[in-house]
Amino acid sequence: MDMRKDEKLLVSKIENGTVIDHINSGRALVVLKILNIKGNEGYRIAIVMNVPSTTMGKKDIVKLEDYYPNSEDLEKISLISPNATINIIKDYEVIKKYKVEIPNKIKGTLKCNNPTCITRKSNEPITSSFTLLSKDKIKLQCDYCGSILTEDDVIKELIGESQ
Ligand code: CTP
Ligand code: ZN
Repeated sequence: MDMRKDEKLLVSKIENGTVIDHINSGRALVVLKILNIKGNEGYRIAIVMNVPSTTMGKKDIVKLEDYYPNSEDLEKISLISPNATINIIKDYEVIKKYKVEIPNKIKGTLKCNNPTCITRKSNEPITSSFTLLSKDKIKLQCDYCGSILTEDDVIKELIGESQ
């Protein structure tokens, strides 16, 4: 069965909102967590996980009726799914389509994993800042102390499991 039929059997098209496509397989729930969507907000949501993709092997899709992520949300999504495509839907048509982009500097979004880093001191109002070292397997370096954040560190932090 081809990908389109497979997907169509699972979820229908949406009228207005956002389709986040090409999410790394298994990460749809992390995307919802990043967007702080719990499911009790009332708007319609479809989550498709581990469906075949011609370019990625397998992928996840999240469809959000009447919801539009902001640029901070998209930055976070890029860190866990660098291939994600954002489709803005109006009257059932895709009116805008773009890929998320991992910025070379990530400021304020993530916390350094080094407890003695100056950005972690509560009386020092210093915004965290990381430089992207690797895109394929995400690796970020703290601009203040040199500590490295791996993809696992980033996911843990984005889903709120770091200290
Ligand atoms: N979609 C949707 N509701 C719509 C229009 C599109 O849910 N009213 C979904 C499609 O099911 C697909 C995604 O939005 O998952 C992108 O739609 P489209 O650009 O039509 O699909 P493709 O051409 O396959 O996209 P791409 O080339 O980015 O893979
Ligand atoms: Zn640091």
